[in-house]
Amino acid sequence: MRKTSINLIILFAVLCIFGCNKKENQSKAQQETMENIRISDYGVTSKGDSVKKYTLANKNGMKVEIINFGGIITSLTAPDKNGKYEDVVLGFTRPEDYFNGNSYYFGALIGRYGNRIANAKFTLEGTSYDIDKNDGSNSLHGGKDGFHTKFWNIESVKDAKFPTLKLTYTSADGEEGYPGKLTTTVFYTLTDENALEISYEAETDKPTVVNLTQHSYFNLSGNFSKTILDHEMQINADKFLPVNETLIPTGEQKAVKGSAFDFTASKPIGKDISADDDQLKKGKGYDHNWILNGNGLRSIAKVYHPESGRVMEVLTDEPGVQFYSGNFLDGKFDTKTGGKNEFRTGFCLETQHFPDSPNQSSFPSTELKPGQKYQSKTIYKFSVKK
Ligand code: BGC
Repeated sequence: MRKTSINLIILFAVLCIFGCNKKENQSKAQQETMENIRISDYGVTSKGDSVKKYTLANKNGMKVEIINFGGIITSLTAPDKNGKYEDVVLGFTRPEDYFNGNSYYFGALIGRYGNRIANAKFTLEGTSYDIDKNDGSNSLHGGKDGFHTKFWNIESVKDAKFPTLKLTYTSADGEEGYPGKLTTTVFYTLTDENALEISYEAETDKPTVVNLTQHSYFNLSGNFSKTILDHEMQINADKFLPVNETLIPTGEQKAVKGSAFDFTASKPIGKDISADDDQLKKGKGYDHNWILNGNGLRSIAKVYHPESGRVMEVLTDEPGVQFYSGNFLDGKFDTKTGGKNEFRTGFCLETQHFPDSPNQSSFPSTELKPGQKYQSKTIYKFSVKK
């Protein structure tokens, strides 16, 4: 009797060891299928859901960290003139701050409609829709529970030339008030040319509106307690969209020439930001959409930080870019390098269709119909100038 139970214990132990090994092999296999992409635990939401972090690295040592909550870029490193890689995107120090609102939209994927829609309403094919009102009387960045608050399914793209993540999210018909079930796919690729490429795709089962973008705030100094006013910016745009008091475009397409909005030649962001200009007052600084010259995938902006030598070039096939100079950063949170997220310590270049397009027939359309495929691409490329 005793012998039998000893034998049983031995058998159980052998099975256990075998089982554990199998588990280890399985997780190894899973890591391998993620190619060069490392997966780690990032945090747990208040609902108890665990969030994973995916780290993309290239041959130069550049790294981009992305989480499956909001498709958020939590870190992105770029080299300075001495070859030192430092994080250049703003973000929270505590994971839960991303999960509990992220009112700054730090690093997030934005959808279903990036930027503002006036009075949180639009009419499409004769039907009017009320969408979530989360910015005074307007709707901003897809509503309170927009794509920046959603869990994205993440897989790696096998056989891709460079580490590539494929993120998918299906937004239900009626979510945040928008019509149509929208299936969205976003690819993040980190190339060996120190470029982060972002490709967006979407399909719908009913007519809807779509305007997807990425909301990373950059500070090329690598020190998030410094302002971005010394960064030199150039935008390939001869016109921009003036706004009303609630930051909705008035419909006018205004020439930038001779104004504070002229970035056709590179100049420090801080040079004209305090000019006596009604539009700068309305935006509390720059918070406007520039109408980009040309079309197709093209270089649309360059930002240079003289002290570090870092350069960021932006390429996109979108007609517009929202240049936002971090005017609503309010010092309420610690930054990743010490100090607080003070006024204008980060800037965004959000590539997109124009704000409020569903209500402005003179703007390029943002309507997506069943059977059509929404496609858009943006590249943030980093280099140095000595
Ligand atoms: C908008 C700002 C807004 C910010 C939110 C930007 O895209 O242009 O007006 O305050 O997002 O963080």
